[in-house]
Amino acid sequence: MTTTITPLIAGNWKMNGLRGSLEELTELAGMLTTGEAPRAVVVVCPPATILHMIASNGATSGILAGGQDCHAAASGAHTGDVSASMLADAGAQYVIVGHSERRADHGETDEQVRAKAEAAIGAGLKPIICVGETEAERDAGRAEAVVAGQLAGSIPDAAEQHEVIVAYEPIWAIGTGRTPSNEDIGQMHNSIRRQLIERFGDKGATMRILYGGSLKPQNAREILQVENVNGGLVGGASLLAKDFYTIISAV
Ligand code: PGA
Repeated sequence: MTTTITPLIAGNWKMNGLRGSLEELTELAGMLTTGEAPRAVVVVCPPATILHMIASNGATSGILAGGQDCHAAASGAHTGDVSASMLADAGAQYVIVGHSERRADHGETDEQVRAKAEAAIGAGLKPIICVGETEAERDAGRAEAVVAGQLAGSIPDAAEQHEVIVAYEPIWAIGTGRTPSNEDIGQMHNSIRRQLIERFGDKGATMRILYGGSLKPQNAREILQVENVNGGLVGGASLLAKDFYTIISAV
């Protein structure tokens, strides 16, 4: 079956960005509105402290905003956490859940990631659910099995009726400048697609599968044309408007 999926490019600013980062967003907005119209949905996921500012300022130029994580509960005694409805209230339409840095730094399990994705959907957000293997798991030939387990455990059944995005991010490629070969990326994305179709039928054929991990202006064009790569989740290269714009234009 041939399905047309509009690619999505999301910038994950991680723990970078102060109010002054609005300049970067304004520069990006300028490039997006004066150049050729982007062929991708553009999302910026800044730290929660400046989310509202980025969401309000990006809206006029079609830049959508997303959170980087949310708590699974709607509210309550969870000091320091941010709920999905708070992100939505601040103007987010998306939220990254289960990023490998959250899984590693905060010990998040598939079960917790699934609960966060459910909370996101409940608040009207589109979750970007991250999966990916370590280098040791890839070397041991277990990459596809590890990712399959993460997909089964992290994607909620609600994905059948609601928009959910998968981001494949090999952990060893994040922030390292290294990327898998296009063949390896294609093989993994095809494997993810098969599993999504197996579980969600036709819906699984239309879910976006983003690639993340050292996506840069120099490699974006070739990676983004690999089969079943429906966009990218960009860390470091999303911090500079010029670089991020080049990646968006590579679609
Ligand atoms: P990177 O990060 O592009 O800096 O490798 C990707 C991510 O962690 O989302």
